[in-house]
Amino acid sequence: MKEKLKNVLYRIWYWYLSTIDKNAEVIFMNYGYSKENYKIELDKNDEKNRYSAQLYNYVATGINIKGKDILEVGCGRGGGLSYINRYLSPHSATGVDLNKKAIEFCKTYYSNRGIKFLQANAQNLNFQDKVFDVVINIESSHRYSQMDIFLDEVFRVLKPGGYFLFADFRHKSEIEILNKQFEDSNLRPVKKEIITANVLEALKLSTNEREKLIHKMIPKLLHSIGKKFAATEGSTTYNKFSTREYEYFFYIFKK
Ligand SMILES: C[S@@+](CC[C@H](N)C(=O)[O-])C[C@H]1O[C@@H](n2cnc3c(N)ncnc32)[C@H](O)[C@@H]1O
Repeated sequence: MKEKLKNVLYRIWYWYLSTIDKNAEVIFMNYGYSKENYKIELDKNDEKNRYSAQLYNYVATGINIKGKDILEVGCGRGGGLSYINRYLSPHSATGVDLNKKAIEFCKTYYSNRGIKFLQANAQNLNFQDKVFDVVINIESSHRYSQMDIFLDEVFRVLKPGGYFLFADFRHKSEIEILNKQFEDSNLRPVKKEIITANVLEALKLSTNEREKLIHKMIPKLLHSIGKKFAATEGSTTYNKFSTREYEYFFYIFKK
């Protein structure tokens, strides 16, 4: 019941963000990645999203995606897929998300940029079998009710030899379940890394920017909820990463 309620709250939050963000200020919705001496090259306009873009860069460059057909599941407001499309030269880029408003936003905001966006549930991907070289999934799966079905869907839509790039967090009580879900899938592990410290560092470095946006966009009454979702330094979410109650994973699998 508690989990169901959390799912509803997350969905309301994503819907709310899509509704209030009239000026496209929030195009990434992940916690970011930072590491010493890891500073990707970014155009001036992308600098404000440095740490979130770095998470995409770190995950997507786990393999060579140049010339590949990419599907992102849980693309949110499209900032990550747009980053991949502009900087990492895939052959094609397709993004899906459950949130209708986010997909409507993506279709308008990234029109003319060669990315396809569709509304779809991760657990029921409306694509033919074996059509993508790479499926990428960043900070979206923690709310899926049927992770095993999602993994079956990833396997189904991947071409033989294709890759699944996964990054997300779990409460410590859910880690064993997550690893079992991967073990029971048909996907073969290639890399497993815990990146909690890098995510935490990114959160610390982006707290000022995140708080500025919260103050600018959200009524005062909702500031503390905003900080919790944005995991700003000192929030309960941030503290769960710093005490390692939450761990953040980066996994690569091959079909
Ligand atoms: C924290 S946001 C991350 C978005 C994006 N990956 C990023 O890093 O900016 C999580 C996204 O997952 C989407 N999502 C949650 N459950 C989903 C599902 N069952 N199928 C597809 N998308 C889902 C949400 O609507 C939301 O846009």
